[in-house]
Amino acid sequence: MGKGSDEGMELGGQVNGAKDPGSLTELEATHVPAIRAPARVAAGEPFEVVVTVGCGRLHPTEKGHFIQFIELYVGDVFLTSMYFVPERLVPVLKATLTLDAANGPLRAFIHCNLHGVWRAEKHVRVE
Ligand SMILES: [Fe+2]
Repeated sequence: MGKGSDEGMELGGQVNGAKDPGSLTELEATHVPAIRAPARVAAGEPFEVVVTVGCGRLHPTEKGHFIQFIELYVGDVFLTSMYFVPERLVPVLKATLTLDAANGPLRAFIHCNLHGVWRAEKHVRVE
């Protein structure tokens, strides 16, 4: 992100998300997590979830600007996390999990070293 844009914007201490999912700002487009999972799953059957950072455009992974971690929850229950170093690791979290009918939505949180914490959630129907 170039000088004069949102670089260095102080977002620490709050959790950010897409204010209008139909019309993302540039900052939102590169920071809102994208959660890929089936729309429907069978209770107790394993399925794969992939979380990347950025809806439409991947977040950079450079020494001065990178994603430090991705966390995955179901409802308010922590499931897993992955930490990243810049340049070598592309921030992608893959997990295989099971749900039952009582579980809440999948929720992902990411942390950018410059732009703070961002979240997204995805509802998976359990049948
Ligand atoms: Fe960032």
